[in-house]
Amino acid sequence: MWWRLSLPVQAELEESLLWKLNVLGVHRLAVQHAPETPDQRILLAWLPAHEWPEEQRSELFCSLTPLAETFGLVLAQPVWDELADEDWSLSWKQHWQPDPVGERMLILPAWLDVPDEYAHRLVLKMDPGSAFGTGSHPTTRLCLEALEQQPPSGLRVADLGCGSGVLGLAALGLGARQVLSVDTDSLAVRATADNAVLNDLSIDALKVTKGSVEALAKLLEEQPADLLLCNILAPVIEALAPHFQSVLRAGGRGLLSGLLVEQAPRLTEVLGSLGWIVEPLAEQGRWGLLEIRR
Ligand SMILES: C[S@@+](CC[C@H](N)C(=O)[O-])C[C@H]1O[C@@H](n2cnc3c(N)ncnc32)[C@H](O)[C@@H]1O
Repeated sequence: MWWRLSLPVQAELEESLLWKLNVLGVHRLAVQHAPETPDQRILLAWLPAHEWPEEQRSELFCSLTPLAETFGLVLAQPVWDELADEDWSLSWKQHWQPDPVGERMLILPAWLDVPDEYAHRLVLKMDPGSAFGTGSHPTTRLCLEALEQQPPSGLRVADLGCGSGVLGLAALGLGARQVLSVDTDSLAVRATADNAVLNDLSIDALKVTKGSVEALAKLLEEQPADLLLCNILAPVIEALAPHFQSVLRAGGRGLLSGLLVEQAPRLTEVLGSLGWIVEPLAEQGRWGLLEIRR
């Protein structure tokens, strides 16, 4: 059996909601709109019923509401329909292919073998039941490519807002000594822990806990990291910025994404006033990546 979620969404929210659902392990997604009413969109998501009892589904919906609040919007009431089994899994799985990122990495759906042409790449296995798909968003790709360009060899890395854990997995694969991750969303924490196991990482190599920057400082045992990864929406980065010095050591480096290019000047000003030297590192479409140092 399957649950189908139908949720009318505002156009400006669509991209963020699809991304967030992917991060939370929901990958069977579609957006419907009639040609004559392109502004009226309905987001559809299919969830395996045995994995998503009522409590989990309401937790999932609660995880989406802060995204709407960031835009000053309110989400419509979700409609859940129970559907009989069809060949959803097969039809859906056909859409997910090994996804090369940068020059050296490959995001691999857990049930597939590494294709020969990618045999030389660093494999990041993702299970769709937990959190596959995060590598496809431009801001995740910006972070992954920046990691690849300056590999974090031997570094202790803090991943603030880890989602599926994909950035931490990449950091470890590229030589990081340890990754300490947090996310305010319990489903993301679960996804990161699941993906760490899937990639044969030890509990010490990748630690993850629920919470935000304070939880991260504790996880770091009050010894700020060498590298901070933070891919969250700009208003959230701005709110967290005054705490960055508790999780990133002086002389360390931070990679901040999740911001729209037009939001970069304001963030640069805020971070500058807090003593950070800010450089725009890269852009993909409307999304940007900033580097901070101190
Ligand atoms: C855009 S996703 C990024 C996920 C992953 N790091 C990536 O790059 O694909 C942002 C994540 O930050 C989490 N988040 C949002 N606000 C947060 C906060 N104040 N503290 C910690 N995590 C937060 C969200 O739950 C979400 O999983």
